[in-house]
Amino acid sequence: MRRWTLDLTQDDWRNAAEAAAVCDAIKAGELVAIPTETVYGLAADATSSSACAKIFAAKGRPQFNPLISHLPSLEACMEHGIFDEDAMKLAKAFWPGPLTLVVSKKPQSTICDLATAGLDTVALRVPAGPVMRFLAEKCGSPLAAPSANISGKVSTTTADAVTADLSASLSFVVDAGPCSVGIESTIVALVDGTPRLLRPGGVPRKDLETVLGCALIDASTPTRPDAPQAPGMLSSHYAPSAAVRLNAQTVQDGEALLAFGSNRLPGADGAVGEINLSPSGNLEEAATRLFAALRHLDSSGAKTICVQTIPMEGLGEAINDRLERAAAPRPNTPS
Ligand code: TXA
Ligand code: MG
Repeated sequence: MRRWTLDLTQDDWRNAAEAAAVCDAIKAGELVAIPTETVYGLAADATSSSACAKIFAAKGRPQFNPLISHLPSLEACMEHGIFDEDAMKLAKAFWPGPLTLVVSKKPQSTICDLATAGLDTVALRVPAGPVMRFLAEKCGSPLAAPSANISGKVSTTTADAVTADLSASLSFVVDAGPCSVGIESTIVALVDGTPRLLRPGGVPRKDLETVLGCALIDASTPTRPDAPQAPGMLSSHYAPSAAVRLNAQTVQDGEALLAFGSNRLPGADGAVGEINLSPSGNLEEAATRLFAALRHLDSSGAKTICVQTIPMEGLGEAINDRLERAAAPRPNTPS
């Protein structure tokens, strides 16, 4: 595995020899880890089923769980999906950014069936992180990329975390520093005239509802039996090795503490390890730190990570969604 470390504040990274080498690797059907503003993605050419098969194998991901395709622009996305009025509104308001739209797949789309798990819908995203956008444009192909972590485990927001999970499967890791949002994209399905929230994420629900001018229906409350769900929203996910205990009011013996805000919990001084996601109670800062904090506390050897209550407003919905999945009962098989 080669590592390309780049500085986004220097304009010439696009001309680096490594940019061409990463592109050659993608075109040859290899896997590369690429940062976005949300999390690092495990990327491959979305038009190649043999390349996408490598993603499923590397992550240990079930093949019924489709992948998001990353593209450089709305225009490029429109070659692959059918955008109704609401989809256009959301794309124009939030792209590039941490929003994924699930829309009906166009028959002429070149995105392979393995990437969409054989569905007649496709998940499309124009990320704000410039590296994924640039590489998709340079390669001339949509890039299929799930989060770059072992399936069911904590997502990655640094190149070191990616390397710890996946170095054996990668030909390149692109290191552009820590991700600025830190939590995955919000996923909205627009396939049957009713916008549905499939996964809370980096764009808060309220912002989407303001643009749509209506409330977003949750995927878990379908109005039709064939209403779309995100097949990847399995209840146990984002799981560290340690158990996770939510809404802790005290810290118990042997626990590590994932704290939030300025209120110090009784017993905190005895915690095996401690990270405060945001001492000032800022939810954006907390999202940025969440996955690295879970990985760090997990390595402290604590049997349990206890988590202080985090409010549900703004990005709090997505943070609590990830923490609830991290705390859910674990299946024996990878999810
Ligand atoms: O921020 C993100 O979204 C990151 C970065 C790398 O872009 N990617 C990411 O991918 O989180 P992943 O594979 O970890 O999650 C994608 C989710 C899964 O839950 C999957 O089931 C859902 O998107 N999905 C993909 N295609 C779908 C489709 N056609 N219909 C419904 N859900 C879909
Ligand atoms: Mg994931």
